[in-house]
Amino acid sequence: MNSKAIKTVKLACVFAGLGGLLFGLDQGFINGSLGYIREEMHLSLTQGESFASIMLIGCIIGVFCSGWVSRNIGRKRTLILAALFFALFTFLGSITHNVVVLFGTRFALGLAVGCASFVVPLYLSEIAPTKMRGGFIAMYQFMITVGIFLIFLSNSIIAAYLESWRLMLGIIAVPALVMFFGVIVIPKSPRWLMLKGKEDEAEKVLKSTRETDEEVAFELKEIRESIASEKKQSGWLMLRKSYFLKVLALGILLMLLQQFSGINSVIYYSGEIFKKAGFTNPNIGTVVMGLINVFVTIIAIKYVDKWGRKPILYFGLTVMTIMLIIIGVLFRVQESGIELNSIFKSTLLVACLVYVASFAVSLGPIMWIICAEIFPLEGRDFGVTATTAACWIGCTIVVQFSLSIMHSFGGAVLFFVFAVCCILGFFLIKFFTPETKGISLEEIEINLKNGTKLKDIGNKI
Ligand code: BGC
Repeated sequence: MNSKAIKTVKLACVFAGLGGLLFGLDQGFINGSLGYIREEMHLSLTQGESFASIMLIGCIIGVFCSGWVSRNIGRKRTLILAALFFALFTFLGSITHNVVVLFGTRFALGLAVGCASFVVPLYLSEIAPTKMRGGFIAMYQFMITVGIFLIFLSNSIIAAYLESWRLMLGIIAVPALVMFFGVIVIPKSPRWLMLKGKEDEAEKVLKSTRETDEEVAFELKEIRESIASEKKQSGWLMLRKSYFLKVLALGILLMLLQQFSGINSVIYYSGEIFKKAGFTNPNIGTVVMGLINVFVTIIAIKYVDKWGRKPILYFGLTVMTIMLIIIGVLFRVQESGIELNSIFKSTLLVACLVYVASFAVSLGPIMWIICAEIFPLEGRDFGVTATTAACWIGCTIVVQFSLSIMHSFGGAVLFFVFAVCCILGFFLIKFFTPETKGISLEEIEINLKNGTKLKDIGNKI
């Protein structure tokens, strides 16, 4: 057993995985800080929402660019570049007094987050030995939730003692710097090296990260074959194939469902939601919510291969729909002029926590997993880019309009809309989504190309 190899891989995964942590930190940052930023920079409600969502526009562009950048300069250098952006623009954002510069830095952070959301899982899947691959990709979602929790915690501690949004932001530069120095020493992706014709170097990396020579030889052969099949067919050409279009539409719809279930309305604005419901200290609920998000994600990672994807999705969607309706009804009560008493307020808090938990066990990790499984090899890069971009586009829309809808039409309307989206989601899962538990990616691909119905492409051949 070559334990040095395992150590090298784990270290690489930890440093690259910091990209997921930074994704979570930047995603959760708005919650608890937006009020202070709006006050100091004199931003209206809509400008505040735009400040939150301009990062997401950067993310969308970042995802599209990172496919090209990581192919040309390599996964490792792209990670270094993203870490540099994280550190530099976090620092600049935290010291500027100019609104335009502040918006510019948040946009640039978005480029880094979008880039990380594409390159980190890609790098992890290429550096990890086959038997550890699934766990390492799932670890990425786990790191996102840890980032969200840590920023909720640090924002609420800073809010209690110093009330400085600059410190809330500036502190993110610390893990960004750790990531920057960490990714400098990690090995390059063997698959990218092969793509560039540097087979000797790729072999060296594999020897330092695999336990046996047989593993090295097998992977070299596998990478060679997969590159040859990719070269035959480019992602864009795949758009001519109807089976690819079908699966692409499914991936995009699954990601849109993940976002229109409303999760980021709660992740970004739970502070405002709790305040609107009459809580005097909304930060405690937000921190507990972040913690639940982390723990339930661990359960999901452990059981997704045992219970299957679809049963968990049905369960998650059912509970989320019920919780959204409860939250909506409570807002309707409050909006009709009745002040929420402590029982109603506790019910609202519990409903929000259960809602986040049921998302974290289902739609959170599973949509990423299914999107990584359903595309045929030749179109996988293209498919993953498109679905990741769909995730950010959905997220931008939700984050940009949630507060305005809540203030103009009331919280009830907002949560009922999310509930309707979850109900529509049932149909997408029931009639179009395959169960991909325990089936190889090759079998899925064969089924798809044979013209099997989308919902059956996960059936054993
Ligand atoms: C989603 C993010 C969300 C996070 C919450 C991820 O799966 O893509 O948009 O903020 O889960 O944990």
